[in-house]
Amino acid sequence: MDNKHFYITTPIYYPSGKLHIGHAYCSVATDAMARYKRLQGCDVMFLTGTDEHGQKIEDKAREAGVSPQKFVDDIVTAPGGVLDLWKLMDVRYDRFIRTTDNYHVASIQKIFRKMYDKGDIYKGTYKGKYCKPCESFWTESQLADGKCPDCGREVQDAEEEAYFFRLSKYAGRVQDLLENTDFLEPRSRVHEMVNNFIKPGLEDLCVSRTSFTWGVPIDFDPKHVAYVWMDALFNYMTALGYMNEEHHDLDKFWPADVHFVGKEIVRFHAIVWPAFLMSLDLPLPKKVYGHGWLNFNGDKMSKSKGNVVDPYLLSGRYGVDALRFFLLRTFPFGSDGNFTNELLIQTINTDLANDLGNLVSRTTAMVEKYFGGTLPEARQASPAGDEIISLVTSLRGRYEVQMEKYQFQNALEEIFKVIQRANKYIDENAPWSLAKDMDANGPRLAAVLYNLLETVRVCTVLLTPFMPGSCEKIFAQTGAPAEGQTWDSAANWGVLPAGVQVRKGENLFPRIDVAKELEELDGLMKEAQKAALPSVETEPLAAETVDFETFSRSDLRAVKVKDCQPVKKSDKLLRFILDDGTGTDRQILSGIAKWYKPEELAGKTLAAIVNLPPRKMMGLESCGMLISAVHTEQGEEKLNLLILNDAIPAGAKLC
Ligand code: ME8
Repeated sequence: MDNKHFYITTPIYYPSGKLHIGHAYCSVATDAMARYKRLQGCDVMFLTGTDEHGQKIEDKAREAGVSPQKFVDDIVTAPGGVLDLWKLMDVRYDRFIRTTDNYHVASIQKIFRKMYDKGDIYKGTYKGKYCKPCESFWTESQLADGKCPDCGREVQDAEEEAYFFRLSKYAGRVQDLLENTDFLEPRSRVHEMVNNFIKPGLEDLCVSRTSFTWGVPIDFDPKHVAYVWMDALFNYMTALGYMNEEHHDLDKFWPADVHFVGKEIVRFHAIVWPAFLMSLDLPLPKKVYGHGWLNFNGDKMSKSKGNVVDPYLLSGRYGVDALRFFLLRTFPFGSDGNFTNELLIQTINTDLANDLGNLVSRTTAMVEKYFGGTLPEARQASPAGDEIISLVTSLRGRYEVQMEKYQFQNALEEIFKVIQRANKYIDENAPWSLAKDMDANGPRLAAVLYNLLETVRVCTVLLTPFMPGSCEKIFAQTGAPAEGQTWDSAANWGVLPAGVQVRKGENLFPRIDVAKELEELDGLMKEAQKAALPSVETEPLAAETVDFETFSRSDLRAVKVKDCQPVKKSDKLLRFILDDGTGTDRQILSGIAKWYKPEELAGKTLAAIVNLPPRKMMGLESCGMLISAVHTEQGEEKLNLLILNDAIPAGAKLC
């Protein structure tokens, strides 16, 4: 093997809240790749970690009333936190970096100074948009409809002293790297980078901020902290010992073989990162692979929508291996994938219960039933044995081609084609018929079962990177000593001893009742998601002011409900007949039927605006509007009418 060392990384995750299945997707893929390389005999470094600085964390910590360090410590190390999640998902990393680790902070300071001394970092003025109430700077493109993306208020032009990195200087070299090498994959992402970011003109990058303090201070100008992306990207090298004495693995592992990153951060890894490295005359990573996003039921997963998928819930129900397998078997790694509960359950049933689970349990059951668990040495060639043997011994090659391209879905497809063929082989050879005359057919039956056990063994070796725990159990059931199941053994036939002993164990992948499970799972997810939503949300205050003159032209009055009825053919409207103190009844229609039953409101004193022009709704005239309070509670809109003290007479002016 030419590549003895293999260095692979995940992005370092923001510990700003709970991680979800989308985050786990990248870590599980990286873990499968790292385990595959270890299986091949490589010396692997799998790095992951957390990206702990920046305004977002500072703000969240303030909201939570704790220091930023305490805030991130809790999310990284607490039960249900980042480390816990990787343990749950069986993600076996070799090193974990936190950007608040002292050695990393000191390294970033040195890196910043080095680039400054070289002239690639210079002091300038950052021009952007500023939201005063949020104390946040935004670029034009970050704004939402021209307003602050956080609070929705107006922003102002602003300037701040800042350091800049001469990204523009490296535009040509980066473009060449992207267009003329395999540095960035999938290839479609190259066009996006070149056309959307490089061709329109790469501007120098602002690499320091003074508007917050939770970051790596620039040691020669400490009111500045390093831009989070500069701090974060260099983790891939500081974790190996670049600019520090904490680690000493640079010679061995740099340049990285591959950085796995989500598609939205490809820009930083494929443009900014190589430019930083070019500035420092450092070797570039061999590859950046931009994987797709997992959506849920066709929608982007987001905490505010309350539709994030919880890996704890799913692995609790189906086992972590089923979940790992589903993620890599179902979605092509380079494209977006749509996660649905139905797809998850179907994949478990089809591939794991029907195909793999059945093959293992049928094979082991037959060895137990016909041979008391130990295959006899005497074997006789079985019909179609040669075809199976060549299919199995060539599988490793087909699998390797796909794994080297990070096409996990295709690698698994190759394995499952063999598993399906093996199930067919059982039916073709009908061991139950052979068993009817053991004297005549015993050796042939033993050969059929041996072929099946070897097929299971090879498939299991190659499945190990995806489902390590389950594969260990399959080895134990099929009499394959786990330590002997090497990469070499996966291309060889006849590795199991002739008198192999099997023992049928637990059913590894029980079949799931789809309809029942879906109902239960959907219910559980809805409950969990509801609980995860912010309990109470109110609209941001209006940014525009209203002059007093305009405001005071609105005539707000206390009104008493004389009658309230539903409006025919409308499930929203209630029709109110009100005493407004004038002696003439006033009719108001109000869209509050979802929240109130008419009989609840009879006799109540309410607040209404009475000088709106009359409006027709469902053929009825509405003269005014009732005032109510609205807010959102766990994602659901809530409305409460303003119910006044009954001592207030009808017609009293509200001001
Ligand atoms: O971006 N599907 O951190 P992060 C697939 N700190 N991948 C998803 C996903 C989804 N639904 N949601 C998130 C950062 N991810 C930076 C990285 S690296 C020097 C700094 C992926 O916690 C996302 O695409 O916001 C990204 O690759 C990773 O999770 C970390 O996201």
